Amino acid sequence: MNTKPTHSVPTSLFGLPGEDPHELILFGSDSDGGLRSIVAIHNTSRGPAFGGCRMWRYASDLAALTDALRLSQGMTFKNALADLPFGGGKAVIIAPEGASIDRSQLFHAFGDLVNSAGGRYITAEDVGTTTADMRMVASRSKFVSGLPRQGKFGGDPSPKTAWGVFLAIEQGLRLHLKKSLKGSTVAVQGLGSVGLALCEYLSDSGAQLIVADVDELRVAKAIGRFGARRVSPEEILEVSADVLAPCALGGVLNSTSVPKIRASIVAGAANNQLSRPEDGVMLRDRGVLYLPDFLINAGGIVSVAREYLGTGSESEVMSEVALIAGRVAELLERCQSGGSPAEVAETWARQKIGLGSSWSREVP
Ligand code: NAI
Repeated sequence: MNTKPTHSVPTSLFGLPGEDPHELILFGSDSDGGLRSIVAIHNTSRGPAFGGCRMWRYASDLAALTDALRLSQGMTFKNALADLPFGGGKAVIIAPEGASIDRSQLFHAFGDLVNSAGGRYITAEDVGTTTADMRMVASRSKFVSGLPRQGKFGGDPSPKTAWGVFLAIEQGLRLHLKKSLKGSTVAVQGLGSVGLALCEYLSDSGAQLIVADVDELRVAKAIGRFGARRVSPEEILEVSADVLAPCALGGVLNSTSVPKIRASIVAGAANNQLSRPEDGVMLRDRGVLYLPDFLINAGGIVSVAREYLGTGSESEVMSEVALIAGRVAELLERCQSGGSPAEVAETWARQKIGLGSSWSREVP
């Protein structure tokens, strides 16, 4: 995985400016394995904080902290809206310099860091980490999921994320444009694990695809497999399409890009797509329906959560992910009383969390 992290915003050591403070932030390092990692636990009101571990070459330690803080807060909202018995957390590893990384040493050390949270944080893979890395974490800590699939269900969460986003797009088209996917045009930015799986679902349903990726091989794959039309990474946000699906980076919806968006719906997998809440309002004012990432990209966390809990079957996980379509319909209803979808979804999530200090909560 090679997605850029969400963009940096000024932050303090304790949380995002103007937002609820984080409950616990751990900074861990290990000179032997080269680990430099931050575990950010945002809220455990609903249960232990659950969210993936991202490894990235950050421009600065502050950029890494900001990413961890933003992503972990997003996980609080995502897990609440998905009705999972988990709070929100996320880990970032600052990718070590140099070509040769001893991943086994690195992820063993990361497993020790996860353990030091005493079960308040459960990890899984994210951008820059894999199921194989999680297996190494598992040799040191039981607070990990997204392990190589053992036959039942679980493993790489990306296909489930793509399934949830696909259903959200279908629902958005139906309710907002009174259209089906057949004959609709969807522009997909980023053809990685989620983007390509999403293209497959969309193409199978008769959608025309416009695609962009910085990786030429992935673009060639999408053209070959789905007859997609390619545009450059610079053009994809501005193409004329029914739906724009950002599946690469965070922060792509910002004051520069939003005025140029020509799609009627924006619905994709990338975390933290909105650079600022105001950009969500700007989209609404331009008549563009934005389906918030933390509502529609929960398929992956549902998958790793069920794997962790050991409950359900493959078809039950797929059905649970499919509940995202109903949540999109409920969101649009809730939006009728005003507010942009992002604001309304966040308020909805906050209601489910029941805010307040959760320091005293017992964690198994
Ligand atoms: P990935 O790393 O496999 O794929 C990302 C793709 O975006 C790569 O093909 C990369 O070359 C491309 N890309 C990078 N910069 C680009 C640019 N400027 N323009 C166009 N393409 C560009 O990541 P994955 O797993 O597919 O995730 C995609 C997004 O969805 C990430 O933001 C991730 O945080 C989010 N997400 C992923 C979940 C999962 O289950 N994998 C779950 C929830 C969110």
